[in-house]
Amino acid sequence: MPQFDLPVAERRVPQPEHVELLLEAPALAATLTPGQFAHVWTPGTLRRPISFSRTTPEGWVGLLFRVVGPGTAWLAERRAGDRLDVLAPLGHGFPDPEPGPVLLVGGGVGIPPLFAAAQRWGKTHPVSVILGARSADALVMADDFRALGLHPILTTDDGSVGERGRVSGPVAQWLARQGGGQVMACGPTPMLAAVAQLVGGGRPCWLAYEQRMGCGVGACLACVVPGAGADGRPEWIRVCHDGPVLSSQRLLWPQDA
Ligand SMILES: Cc1cc2nc3c(=O)[nH]c(=O)nc-3n(C[C@H](O)[C@H](O)[C@H](O)COP(=O)(O)OP(=O)(O)OC[C@H]3O[C@@H](n4cnc5c(N)ncnc54)[C@H](O)[C@@H]3O)c2cc1C
Ligand code: FES
Repeated sequence: MPQFDLPVAERRVPQPEHVELLLEAPALAATLTPGQFAHVWTPGTLRRPISFSRTTPEGWVGLLFRVVGPGTAWLAERRAGDRLDVLAPLGHGFPDPEPGPVLLVGGGVGIPPLFAAAQRWGKTHPVSVILGARSADALVMADDFRALGLHPILTTDDGSVGERGRVSGPVAQWLARQGGGQVMACGPTPMLAAVAQLVGGGRPCWLAYEQRMGCGVGACLACVVPGAGADGRPEWIRVCHDGPVLSSQRLLWPQDA
């Protein structure tokens, strides 16, 4: 398992309670697939999984996270020059999309890996972006998408920025407008279930599943979710090892189980 001791090059605070650490990691930046994650050592807890948010021309990689508990609180206190012990790159990221339109759907802390996807495929595919969060404070990276020349549609539960409501409305409109195309999404499980249901079986839909994890490398089974194998039989999927990006066709949602 590749393990790195990486210096923090820059610390940003994009929104309240959110921090992005840019790490100097040219070797890692050159091999990353959007949707892969880092398992980061934090004191007194298990490692914490964080998706890569971006790569930069300097050979930096980004980790953008919301402070929710002791691990992310410790990470949020890191400053330029501090070093992080990181296992990476872990898991399977988003596959190269087929030619044609791509819709990126990000919810809350699920937005960062979709920005990495926009960096990778924004110039090779017609990319549309829909971002959602509970309120403006939790809606990250909209300006980063705009800096790539994209025009994200924003939704918030409380209407504090963009359309009031969930991402489902704009997703349904995009699907109705586009005859084909493919969807990549990351966010809370109910959002992923809603996106999978709206897309149905007719076009590719890839979901980055941010399930709680233990070991991060397939050994402890802390992260399993129910799925359906190629032969349709039920199987347990280890999100860290088989995902975190999974085809929506492989996942079983509570209503399917
Ligand atoms: C593959 C993957 C990628 C991730 N990428 C990001 C990212 O890019 N940015 C980001 O902010 N977070 C991301 N997360 C979630 C992040 O790992 C957790 O927020 C973090 O581990 C919390 O650690 P903590 O010690 O601060 O809080 P804890 O004390 O561990 O948790 C605090 C609270 O958050 C809840 N929580 C913790 N992890 C999750 C989770 N995965 N899903 C839902 N609720 C959770 C706990 O139930 C608890 O209520 C990702 C998770 C996975 C599995
Ligand atoms: S976190 Fe241990 S098997 Fe996935």
